[in-house]
Amino acid sequence: MATDLMQMQGNAQGLSDWDKEHDDTLVCIDIHQETHDVRSFTFASLEGKRFSFESGQYFLFDIPVGNDVEARCYSISSSPHRPNTFTVTVKRVANGRASNWLHDNLATGTKLKAQGPLGHFIRPRDTARKLLLLSGGSGITPVMSIVRDLADRCEPADVIFVHAARTPLDLIFRQELSWLASRMKGLRLHFLPEGVDGEPSWPGLTGRISPEFIKLAVPDIADRTVMCCGPAPFMAAARSITSALGVHPANYLEESFDATVVDEAAIAPAEIPGNKVFQVEFSKQARKIEVSSEQTVLSSAKKSGVRLPSSCSNGVCGTCKSKLLSGSVEMNHNGGIRQREIDAGLFLPCCSKPLSDLVVDR
Ligand code: FES
Repeated sequence: MATDLMQMQGNAQGLSDWDKEHDDTLVCIDIHQETHDVRSFTFASLEGKRFSFESGQYFLFDIPVGNDVEARCYSISSSPHRPNTFTVTVKRVANGRASNWLHDNLATGTKLKAQGPLGHFIRPRDTARKLLLLSGGSGITPVMSIVRDLADRCEPADVIFVHAARTPLDLIFRQELSWLASRMKGLRLHFLPEGVDGEPSWPGLTGRISPEFIKLAVPDIADRTVMCCGPAPFMAAARSITSALGVHPANYLEESFDATVVDEAAIAPAEIPGNKVFQVEFSKQARKIEVSSEQTVLSSAKKSGVRLPSSCSNGVCGTCKSKLLSGSVEMNHNGGIRQREIDAGLFLPCCSKPLSDLVVDR
């Protein structure tokens, strides 16, 4: 551990940058208890490299649970203006294997593999744009990174931030946000606990987000770009309320890691009668595998130990987006890729089956 830290510090003098295509080893350097069931974990590169990320992005971690390795996305909660480390903030979830492992086993000095930064939940760069940040529960993490980013930039901003939680004791970053709101002239903050368990003297409004609450807190909502992150029911409510109040779909961004993971049966390609089997090459990793016409490129790659970033495995999130250097695929995505990206030769391996031999730029 001491040797690792010395190595990190020594290499830090060289100030090289974390390369998301090649670097993958992090070391935990700090753990902070945020609320009764939420902790922040701060990571550095083992080689002291600097991270370049946008607020709103995430890392995909390999969490060693028992004999398995489970891939989990955790949004960065820290500011991109502190590039020597980044922090993720994780809520302990009942029966959540990965989150429980992090809370129970991760210590300073623990090394973990991770890929990133990834994700497209990124604030529009137009500084004249008025924002409404909406978060529920631990969905606050990417939104907190955005607020810290804005605070560090000291740019003029017009931001309303509504954060909902179960009780006042579940309001993550409550103190820091209140302090930031007292300093950032363009930030208006509204906490909305559902009930007051644990803090009966709570002075503000309580309840779930509703059209009435949003109209009161955000009277000019139709003029704002909305960025929302939280549990699926929270986001569904936010989407329908903001749309009914005049927010154009193009001005509504959301982040979710709730999408269902498709776990395909482990069948060797040649075992299914009538299947064609194609050669798929991953050029950067110098790996070639066989993929049947009935299996997705991602599922076969995973079974063969080829490293590809992924999250939803369902064509939603865009995490696995890769360049197809040659060959063709049948892709059934769910919005995780744009037509112009497809036109530029990109595809989503998680929802693509080969129609020919392929060469993938990974
Ligand atoms: S893993 Fe989400 S789109 Fe492929």
